[in-house]
Amino acid sequence: MDTTDLVLAIIHHLLVFSLAGIIGAEFVLTCGELPATTLRRLVGIDRHYGIIAMLIIIVGIGRVIYGLKGWEFYVYNWVFWAKMAAFAIVGLLSIVPTVRFVSWNRQAVANPAFAVPAAELAAVKTHVRAEAFIFLLIPVFAAAMARGYGY
Ligand code: HEM
Repeated sequence: MDTTDLVLAIIHHLLVFSLAGIIGAEFVLTCGELPATTLRRLVGIDRHYGIIAMLIIIVGIGRVIYGLKGWEFYVYNWVFWAKMAAFAIVGLLSIVPTVRFVSWNRQAVANPAFAVPAAELAAVKTHVRAEAFIFLLIPVFAAAMARGYGY
C-alpha cells in the first residue's frame, strides 16, 4: 500500500476527466451560435483548460517520480513517450482556439455587432475536433503503459 501513489492516481484521474469535459464543452459550444455571452464563456472555459493541463503535467511528473514502478519504468518505455507526444500534440492544437477565443471575445466587447468570421470558426472547429480525437489516444497509451507494454 502506498498512499502517495494512490493520492496522485486519484488526482490524475480527476484532472484528466476534467480536461476531457472541457474539450467536450469547447466542441459543443463551437458547434452552435456564438453570441457575446458564449464567447465570454469559451474564454473562461479555455482558461481552465490551461490551468488543468498544467496541473496534469505536475501531477503526471509526480506519478513518474513517486509512482510504485519507479521512474525508469516510464523513461525507458516508448508507450509512455507516445502518450506524452499525444498530450503535447493536443496542447499544440489548442493554441489556435485559445488565440481565437480571446480575440473574438475582445472584438465582441468592442463592437456589439461583431460576428465571428466563418473561416476562422471553421479553423477552430477543425482544431477542437482534432484535439478531441487525439485526446482519445492518451488513455489507450496509458492503459497499455500501466500494464507493462513498451518497456
Ligand atoms: C505530462 C502528462 C502526463 C504524465 C507525465 C502522465 C503520467 C502517468 C503515469 C506515471 C501513470 C501511471 C501508470 C502506471 O500505473 O504505471 C499514468 C496513468 C494514467 N494516465 Fe497519465 N500522465 C499524463 C497525462 C495524462 C493525460 C492527459 C491523460 C488523459 C486521458 C492521462 C490518462 C491516464 C490514465 C487513464 C491512467 C491510468 C492507466 C491505468 O492504470 O490503466 N494521463 N499517467
